[in-house]
Formats: sequence, C-alpha cells, structure tokens
Amino acid sequence: VEETYIMVKPDGVQRGLAGEIISRFEKKGFKLTGLKLFQCPKELAEEHYKDLSSKSFFPNLIEYITSGPVICMAWEGVGVVASARKLIGSTNPLQAEPGTIRGDLAVHTGRNVVHGSDSPENGKREIALWFKEGEICQWTSAQGPWLRE
Ligand code: GTP
Ligand code: MG
Repeated sequence: VEETYIMVKPDGVQRGLAGEIISRFEKKGFKLTGLKLFQCPKELAEEHYKDLSSKSFFPNLIEYITSGPVICMAWEGVGVVASARKLIGSTNPLQAEPGTIRGDLAVHTGRNVVHGSDSPENGKREIALWFKEGEICQWTSAQGPWLRE
C-alpha cells in the first residue's frame, strides 16, 4: 500500500503549527502509521536531502532542518503521495495556492514548514530512513467503509 513521509519542519514546530498540519492529513482521510518528535542529526538531514547536495542553498537547508525538533510522520493511503504534495502546496509559499498548508501558513522557501515525499519510492525510502522497526504501527481504521465506496 502507498505510503508517504511527512515532516513538520523546525519552523512549524516552533510556530505552534504542528497540530494544524497533522490535522490537515487526518481530516483528509489518510491513515497515520508513525509519529514522533525528533531532533535530527546533521548526517540524517544530509542523507535525506542528498539529491540537493550540489545546490547553493544546501548548507542553509541542513542548518534549517537540524535547528530544532521536527515531527516525523508516516501516512498511508491510496494516492497518498501525490495528494499530500497537493495539500502541502508549492515549494515557494508565496506561489502556493491558498488552501494549501504552505499557501496558508508560510511566506518563504527557506521556512516552508512541512516536507512531503515526492514519489512512492521516496516515501518508502524516507520512512525507512527516519523510523526504526517497531515505530511503525499497522492498524485497521474504523473509518474505512465511511471513506470509500
Ligand atoms: P520538501 O518537501 O521539503 O522536499 O520540499 P519540495 O519537494 O517542495 O522542494 P525540494 O525537494 O526541491 O527542496 C527541498 C527543500 O529545500 C525545500 O522545501 C526548501 O525548504 C529548500 N529549498 C529548495 N529550494 C530552495 C531555494 O532556492 N532556496 C532555499 N533557501 N531553500 C530551498
Ligand atoms: Mg522534495
């Protein structure tokens, strides 16, 4: 089943937006399978964003992601990766549509409050990277029949 790694970045935690951000995915109807508050070590941030290591903003990005605790989440559902990216909105919050998390809650690319995996493959890769075995909880939601035909 499709899964995605969603993370409230340090600015989201510091600004008291964690509950609001978690709530968007919860209300949409996806299933939470992992959740923790976590201080990210530099090595993990570098591994997570390794595809961006040649970018000029990479050092700032690593400093940002390790600047305070993040909230790590695994969410599951049909089509969850692309749908979560839509709920999150464009990378630059000033270009993100109103109604999206970044469109509603942020003003700068370097402080865009939330991360979402960009493909099902990366969803699996990132969940394996951020969570240990035993931290992911497989459960049956009572909402199932009320969410889909
Ligand atoms: P994530 O969900 O965090 O992966 O964001 P994204 O997929 O919308 O964007 P991308 O993967 O291209 O970049 C990862 C993160 O790097 C962004 O969310 C920003 O926090 C940061 N970033 C990307 N481009 C820039 C930039 O031009 N300047 C700065 N300062 N940060 C950037
Ligand atoms: Mg990305």
